Amino acid sequence: MPTTLITGGAGFIGRHVAEELLSRGHDVRLFDAFVPQVHGDPVRLPDGAQLVRGDVRDRDALDGALKGVDGVIHLAAEVGVGQSMYEVARYVGANDLGTAVLLEAIAAADVGRIVVASSMSIYGEGRYRDAQGAPVAAGLRRSADLKRGDWEVRGPDGQPLTPEPTAEDKQPDLASIYALTKYAQERAVLIFADAYGMNATALRLFNVFGAGQALSNPYTGVLANFASRVAKGERPTVFEDGRQRRDFVHVRDVATAFAQALEADESGRALNIGSGRSYSILDVARMVSEALGRPDLEPEVTGRFRAGDIRNCFADISAAEAALGFRPTRRLEDSLTEFAQWVEAETFTDNGGRMRAELEARGLVS
Ligand SMILES: NC(=O)c1ccc[n+]([C@@H]2O[C@H](COP(=O)([O-])OP(=O)(O)OC[C@H]3O[C@@H](n4cnc5c(N)ncnc54)[C@H](O)[C@@H]3O)[C@@H](O)[C@H]2O)c1
Repeated sequence: MPTTLITGGAGFIGRHVAEELLSRGHDVRLFDAFVPQVHGDPVRLPDGAQLVRGDVRDRDALDGALKGVDGVIHLAAEVGVGQSMYEVARYVGANDLGTAVLLEAIAAADVGRIVVASSMSIYGEGRYRDAQGAPVAAGLRRSADLKRGDWEVRGPDGQPLTPEPTAEDKQPDLASIYALTKYAQERAVLIFADAYGMNATALRLFNVFGAGQALSNPYTGVLANFASRVAKGERPTVFEDGRQRRDFVHVRDVATAFAQALEADESGRALNIGSGRSYSILDVARMVSEALGRPDLEPEVTGRFRAGDIRNCFADISAAEAALGFRPTRRLEDSLTEFAQWVEAETFTDNGGRMRAELEARGLVS
């Protein structure tokens, strides 16, 4: 039986990955610092998983946790895009110094394979085509345009571009400190594993949703943010005009992808893990209100822009399908009833207003 260590294993994705690996016969060890912002609400850890409390920057704790481990899934990270723009040291410390300490500990242990969670945020804007159908490498939007409420991504001639699925060969374009730290995590793991003859894969996750998202943590997870507001009788808050498009992938499909990446004969690459579908944020907000039985709570469209946000990004998942056999099985629209039932049974605080106030106080919403 392989023994797998999951850093950040007590988090939203980690608990689902643990369940998936346990069902495949792995011995599973969770390593987690229980960051208070994420763990404000009680969580149930998967039966049968061993727990080690510790910080990925603590070498001694890691040395103990890595004893007898064959493979590592590295999920531990601070995960808020907006928050990363003012708590810079906290994000770089946990994500990049944390990965560095983990890699040094792995070099001294007997680990054969590592899978790291990267993020779609490293792309910045996704891929686009112009009116003639030619691909265009769109840069980040200009703040002067955004201040005027011109949200669209435009080509050199000023014409709006059409978004299309983003594949792994799109050049990264880092728009937030969070994205910078995720790219550094991804590259550090791939560079290190290559040098030490280990197998490694980075999974670039798109917007992951499902039961177990931290509903009281307003800094991450747009679906959880919408749900926590609607469940407390508040309108979901939508930035810009709500027509920005994202790719929502179910956490159980993501858990399968991690298990596949751990078991596959595949190494040295970063692979997109999304649903391959795109939805406008405004539609998603309405779908959440509907699923929670409050269609009267129409989204509040703020017409404001959050520093670090991009307009459109959704996944081309053909590489993960070819390399891992990854095929998502749960569509957003078919999963929201189950998600709403889970939200209704949870105890949590809606901190969305606090998040917005913090960003506004720092001039990060304009
Ligand atoms: N949820 C998404 O939509 C999404 C999208 C792209 C990438 N990711 C990545 O997936 C991973 C898991 O995300 P999640 O949604 O489960 O977030 P989460 O916040 O629920 O889980 C992260 C876990 O890491 C732990 N942690 C944080 N800092 C730590 C440290 N220094 N030492 C040890 N543990 C620490 C937290 O306590 C938490 O349990 C992260 O690396 C994140 O960047 C998530």
